[in-house]
Amino acid sequence: MKNISGKRLGISAIVSGLGLILLISGCALFEDEQTAKGRKLYHHYCMHCHGENGRQNEGFNWSSMSDPRPRDLSDKAAMSTFSDEEIFSAVSREMRDTSKEEVLNDENYFAVSTMPTFKYTLSEKEIWGVIGYVRTLHGMSLTYDLEARQKELQGVLQEAEQALEAEKPVLEAAELKLEEAEEARSDDDDETILPEEEALEEVQAKFDGIQDIYDQAKAAVDNFSKRPKMNQVSRPDLAISEEELPRLEEVGKQLYQNKYGCNGCHSINEQGGLVGPALDRAGFRLNDTWVYRWIRYPQGMKKHTRMPNLGINDQDARAVTAYLETLRAPKPDQPIAAPE
Ligand code: HEC
Ligand code: HEC
Repeated sequence: MKNISGKRLGISAIVSGLGLILLISGCALFEDEQTAKGRKLYHHYCMHCHGENGRQNEGFNWSSMSDPRPRDLSDKAAMSTFSDEEIFSAVSREMRDTSKEEVLNDENYFAVSTMPTFKYTLSEKEIWGVIGYVRTLHGMSLTYDLEARQKELQGVLQEAEQALEAEKPVLEAAELKLEEAEEARSDDDDETILPEEEALEEVQAKFDGIQDIYDQAKAAVDNFSKRPKMNQVSRPDLAISEEELPRLEEVGKQLYQNKYGCNGCHSINEQGGLVGPALDRAGFRLNDTWVYRWIRYPQGMKKHTRMPNLGINDQDARAVTAYLETLRAPKPDQPIAAPE
């Protein structure tokens, strides 16, 4: 008896030991796959500025950029002061206008315009993968719990769904009440606002709020594993009055330099990055409708382009397009006028 239970104990110890090994190697596999994907993405989207090993002046674009130039991602002493979440929010954020005082004085905000955001280009999981790879560049590894994050997002969605379902009958009841009240009133009295109408408006507003929360939760779950997708940008009407044009061009120039950091990747007059084509002659070479659609959604026109979607709204895209139309440098083989 004793012998057998001893054996059993031995077997179960082996089994659970094996389980533990499988569990650990399972985790390691999961991590490796993530990091391998992160490496690929890093090579495609980050390496030109940050270098293959994250060191300064290693990427071909590094020395062409204006200050502040990309940080040394291989520097463990500096990089270990950032949490995974802090790195995530630098890579996935809204671009903010760095010509504005309040933006520069906001210490909690990472506001370097020449570090593009990848929020609109990659899925959340992909961004975590890249950060996992960035961690290896300074000999650390990602500690952020991706599975818990995914569960959390799903939990939020489930709650939002329940809230929405619970509100549907309330909305239907209010609609029914209004219908009944409208039927009940006399024909010559259809000008006054019924109390049921006001009640429905209130219920509808509450419902819309809950619907918004649901939509956001749904988008967050989708964006966790899928790249953000926009509808194709339709052809804009870019007609603008002559009085308004100079101001729009100036706004566009500011946005180009200080908000979207286009100059980190493109050069004008040999100033600026080398990742994308020089834009000196954009006004001659490129059609404004095409430019507008390109900068609003590059991936919609060329799926794997290295130019990230910077989340440019309609207004900003109009201004930047107007600015690019002003870039009409002479052909390089023509004599260039001396600067005044
Ligand atoms: C156009 C050049 C450019 C590209 C492309 C680029 N970066 Fe950066 N990156 C910068 C600049 C400029 C900074 C800001 C200076 C600084 O603080 O290091 C920066 C900063 C960072 C930082 C430091 C954040 C902090 O809080 O200081 C991280 C991490 C980073 N980039 C990661 C990435 C990753 C990951 C990618 C690719 C998905 C990427 N970068 C693509 C230019 C670039
Ligand atoms: C991270 C680098 C990066 C940033 C930031 C960036 N671009 Fe680009 N851009 C590129 C690359 C790379 C291409 C070439 C695209 C291709 O063919 O895949 C490109 C192409 C273009 C083109 C087409 C040029 C041509 O000659 O065909 C325009 C116009 C353009 N970008 C404008 C902008 C504007 C405006 C901004 C800022 C709002 C911007 N880009 C930000 C990398 C970048």
